[in-house]
Amino acid sequence: METAADLALQRVTLCDELHEKIAAYKNIYKENNKTCTENEQLRSRHHELDSPLQRIKRQLLKKLRDDRVKITASDRRALSIWRTLVTICATVTLLPFTIFAAYKSLQRRRLKYRLKEKVVLITGASSGLGEALAHAFYRAGCRVVLAARREDELRRVKNMLLTTHSTDVTHPPVVLPLDLSDLNVLPGKVAKVLEIFGHIDILINNGGISYRGNILTTSIDVDIKLMLINYFGQVALTKAVLPSMIDRQSGHIVSVSSVQGKIAIPYRSAYTASKHAVQAFSDTLRAEVAAHNINVTLVSPGYIHTKLSVNALTGNGEAYGVMDSATENGSPVEKVAEEILYAVATEKKELTTCSFVAHIAVLLRTLYPELFFWLMKKRAHQH
Ligand SMILES: NC(=O)c1ccc[n+]([C@@H]2O[C@H](COP(=O)([O-])OP(=O)(O)OC[C@H]3O[C@@H](n4cnc5c(N)ncnc54)[C@H](OP(=O)(O)O)[C@@H]3O)[C@@H](O)[C@H]2O)c1
Repeated sequence: METAADLALQRVTLCDELHEKIAAYKNIYKENNKTCTENEQLRSRHHELDSPLQRIKRQLLKKLRDDRVKITASDRRALSIWRTLVTICATVTLLPFTIFAAYKSLQRRRLKYRLKEKVVLITGASSGLGEALAHAFYRAGCRVVLAARREDELRRVKNMLLTTHSTDVTHPPVVLPLDLSDLNVLPGKVAKVLEIFGHIDILINNGGISYRGNILTTSIDVDIKLMLINYFGQVALTKAVLPSMIDRQSGHIVSVSSVQGKIAIPYRSAYTASKHAVQAFSDTLRAEVAAHNINVTLVSPGYIHTKLSVNALTGNGEAYGVMDSATENGSPVEKVAEEILYAVATEKKELTTCSFVAHIAVLLRTLYPELFFWLMKKRAHQH
């Protein structure tokens, strides 16, 4: 069978032949001044030679067209086989994940439904994580009590809840102004909530402040303030809520600590000390109240995008006022709030939600303390 190349070669040969012949006839014509009859003969000879050339040209074009059609058809077949294979592989790989994700999402919805009507007291609800928690629990159908110092901010959060979630939530949020460092007034605040709802199902100890400074120059008043708000405030509120929970043999205490409740880093002494204390208190509490069917969830987040660093205290008690880059690049607050909601719904004892590096740091502190101390010395030196 002739290939396109063979045909092309034939065509070239014939062309050459034709041109040679024409040139020869032209020369003869010129030289001998041929008659018109001879001229006619020449023309017919030209046609004679030209027609096989045209035939070959047609064949060549047809062949090229056929080849192109053949190539396109086989390409299409190969492409469709590849497409089918990729679709099968993708389905086989992704199907279990899709089923798992759908199952998880259904489970989450069912678990959220479990929280419906629960009375939830959230401290630090005027901003940041507390505000996001208020949204998450309110959306899940809980009766939320919003506690913090700034009453106007609490009212703003309340209005946001009422306007944002026009679902089947029927209980308007309750605003409860309080100062966690005012330990003696806290039992009275809890009594007020018990008066309104009769009980508290979930206490979320979230309110707190951070700190930036070195131990040498930090005023002891700042250390005391941090411990008062972050630790003693939580302890006092928990002690005020516990008797009613024990009476009902039901309840849940959530403590928002920090990864810095597991590892201490330089220039955060007062903050890390208060969060370590929260961790220890929660672990002890969990063991003691388990017999009363009361759950304890300790939350240890890494950096979250809130105003924590802006509101932090410096060594002389002034506001730090700076959004530091770690907090700026922290996890979205809504995501952390959802994780906490899920941890509460599933009665998890502990939730550590932080970066991979922070997890490694916690591991290092336990498994290779010497290495951890060396890294912290370096960090302090670079400060
Ligand atoms: N952001 C992070 O990177 C991060 C990481 C780990 C853990 N956490 C923890 O998450 C919790 C919430 O902090 P955030 O990040 O949401 O910071 P935030 O935006 O500064 O919120 C702190 C909340 O605590 C309240 N609060 C402060 N002092 C109080 C006091 N004396 N009495 C009552 N309420 C007080 C504040 O309300 P008022 O000013 O109205 O009183 C505010 O609602 C804190 O316990 C913090 O340690 C945060």
